[in-house]
Amino acid sequence: MVANARDLKKAKKDIQQAAEIIRRGGLVAFPTETVYGLGANAFSAPAVERIFRAKGRPGDNPLIVHISGGEGLGELVSEVPQNFRLLAEKYWPGPLTMVLPKGLRVPREVTAGLDTVALRMPQHPVALALIRTARLPIAAPSANLSGRPSPTTAEHVLEDLAGRIQFLLDGGPCTVGLESTVLDLTHKVPLLLRPGGVTLEQLQETLGEVQVLDSMEFKDEAPPSPGLKYRHYAPRAPMFLVEGEPSRVVKEIQKICRENRLKGRRVGLLVTEENRAYFRAEAIEVLGFRSSPEEMASRLFDSLRRLDTAGVDLILAETFEKTGMGLALMNRLCRAAQNRIIKAR
Ligand code: TXA
Ligand code: MG
Repeated sequence: MVANARDLKKAKKDIQQAAEIIRRGGLVAFPTETVYGLGANAFSAPAVERIFRAKGRPGDNPLIVHISGGEGLGELVSEVPQNFRLLAEKYWPGPLTMVLPKGLRVPREVTAGLDTVALRMPQHPVALALIRTARLPIAAPSANLSGRPSPTTAEHVLEDLAGRIQFLLDGGPCTVGLESTVLDLTHKVPLLLRPGGVTLEQLQETLGEVQVLDSMEFKDEAPPSPGLKYRHYAPRAPMFLVEGEPSRVVKEIQKICRENRLKGRRVGLLVTEENRAYFRAEAIEVLGFRSSPEEMASRLFDSLRRLDTAGVDLILAETFEKTGMGLALMNRLCRAAQNRIIKAR
């Protein structure tokens, strides 16, 4: 069932019903400020296993546990470092996930056998109401089929999971649009595993030193975050990032479009508002103004899905500065493109 939860007051009954499903071990898709989550009771191994089956998710990729406050923290984690308190005070509720030593009550199915657990307090009022009403922590990955772009609308969730979930709370489009920042606090120097809505600059301001994981660096050895080794956000068509001096990037994209048109191939573009007028292509997705990486980030996953629907043979994307939200945006673009980069000369 799909329930309209855009107005929290009117959605009270639906949230109660969703919470009851969680309490009984079922699955509920729900909105957060980052992306939609597919939730289950984090204390129940069989409920959590249902998430993995519904998504087709590899069993060694751990889940984030969503909470609505500090109560019950003692069952979830075995240690509360000082940095955790600092960050929680500043950025919770919000798009920050912290990895901490795991507490005894968290089943191994949630953490994929790791001795750490990822925790996040989301900001979306529907997510918070669902967790509070269920009176349980909710384990939830993004509510997409494994490998597909994360869902930022209820329609995206249905595209991937219709028939596989019992209940979907439709809270409208997600505002951040990229998944949360994942920060591992179990090292001496905190390690940024995934850039997201809380920026590296913000973390550095609070913590001083932060180590950044280059997700493209490791090849054969086990990655520090299991999720990193999987193909992600991948559109069906091969995607390429076109990098270089701005005017040359425009010329290079125009040239590749021409060459492919002659071969009868359909090209899809992911470009900025500033440049859209320069391009002719079978499908053009405009992310937003270059000066607003937040806006571009919020549109990325929807744009990738739309290019899939348009059935293009090839996707070309502009690149962005890796500062502020630009770091997360470039991280998702690089992964969607499997790090294929064309240098415009
Ligand atoms: O914004 C978000 O984080 C969304 C919403 C629903 O909260 N959730 C989300 O979950 O993106 P998921 O499962 O798609 O991504 C979770 C990431 C994965 O890369 C996973 O490997 C990592 O967090 N992770 C989870 N537990 C971990 C742990 N104990 N140690 C290291 N990485 C962990
Ligand atoms: Mg995901």
